[in-house]
Amino acid sequence: MSYTILGIETSCDETAAAVYTPNAGILSNVLFSQIEIQKEYGGVVPEIASRTQLEKINGIVQKSLEVAQVTLQDIDVIAVTNKPGLPGSLLVGVCFAKGLAWEANKKIIGINHLEGHAFSSFIEHNVPFPHICLTASGGHTSLYYIEDFGKYTIIGQTIDDAAGEAFDKIAKLLNLPYPGGPIIERLAQEVNFKDFYNYPRSKKQTTNFSFSGLKTAVMYDLVRRGYYQMKTRTFDAPDKKLVQRQVASSLLVCIKDIFIQKLKLALKKNSSVKAVTFVGGVSCNKYLKEKLGVFCNDRSLSFFTPSSQYCTDNAAMIAFVGSYKAERGEFSDLSLDIF
Ligand code: KG4
Ligand code: ZN
Repeated sequence: MSYTILGIETSCDETAAAVYTPNAGILSNVLFSQIEIQKEYGGVVPEIASRTQLEKINGIVQKSLEVAQVTLQDIDVIAVTNKPGLPGSLLVGVCFAKGLAWEANKKIIGINHLEGHAFSSFIEHNVPFPHICLTASGGHTSLYYIEDFGKYTIIGQTIDDAAGEAFDKIAKLLNLPYPGGPIIERLAQEVNFKDFYNYPRSKKQTTNFSFSGLKTAVMYDLVRRGYYQMKTRTFDAPDKKLVQRQVASSLLVCIKDIFIQKLKLALKKNSSVKAVTFVGGVSCNKYLKEKLGVFCNDRSLSFFTPSSQYCTDNAAMIAFVGSYKAERGEFSDLSLDIF
């Protein structure tokens, strides 16, 4: 059976809805971003995130149906992110989805947000199995060995901060706005992605990641150069823009090296893989995409990454995962909880 899926995503600060069918693909992918609201606080404030979602969710779901040119009657299944995420935010999406499913008599499926990211490349590409997926976002950094739809093993993950979190926190040290990733990429480009400060790369032969040490190393390096005051938490330098560019560029090169080192290890342990995918908010980064693409090309591996709208949090990826779960009859019921 070919189900028409309504996907709902509210795990962090985005309020997103999308409509997907296996035959027509993504019919709509709409979202309300809170970046402008959360910017003021330098990061996501959970209560503001969930209250804003509560305000927006009706309108966003309505719009996703309108853009897709369908009505609620045309929807067969509601796929909603129920883990992992901020509890208050997850509750908004899950309660809304449950109410809608109950009232309109629709089937419901709880979706793991990370499974959404891990399969987001499939929205636009035919990725061969088995492959390795590098997910890098503001909340997660993981490596998966993926054998089939819904069949995957975590082969590495961060033991502390996520890669996106490193961009965000280091941007904050440099007095740059949230989210840090896009602005760090722009500043690095202005100095041609050169490595000025040679930040430490761990030599540990593990596929797990650790970015909290990198953030501390950048901070102490700034302190040593007299550009950061620990007591007042202030950044200052004779030429602030120059230091911001140099730190941004050195950081990006360092993170690129870390990603490549981890991929090398993962590929060594899983020699049968045919492709690599790079997903999550950090995969919007053109420099990282290009470097990882070259790395894969040199090893005769295909490389896939979603377009930006499917890299950052979105409901299209949730609807997509909902679709293959529905085909398998993997439905939830109205006792669906959040995790
Ligand atoms: O996937 P996402 O939208 O949300 C989470 O699930 O966390 O990812 C957001 C993260 C932020 O940390 C942001 O700084 C990062 O993705 N990001 C980038 C870029 N665009 C967004 N990081 C590096 N370069 C970018 N161009
Ligand atoms: Zn995400």
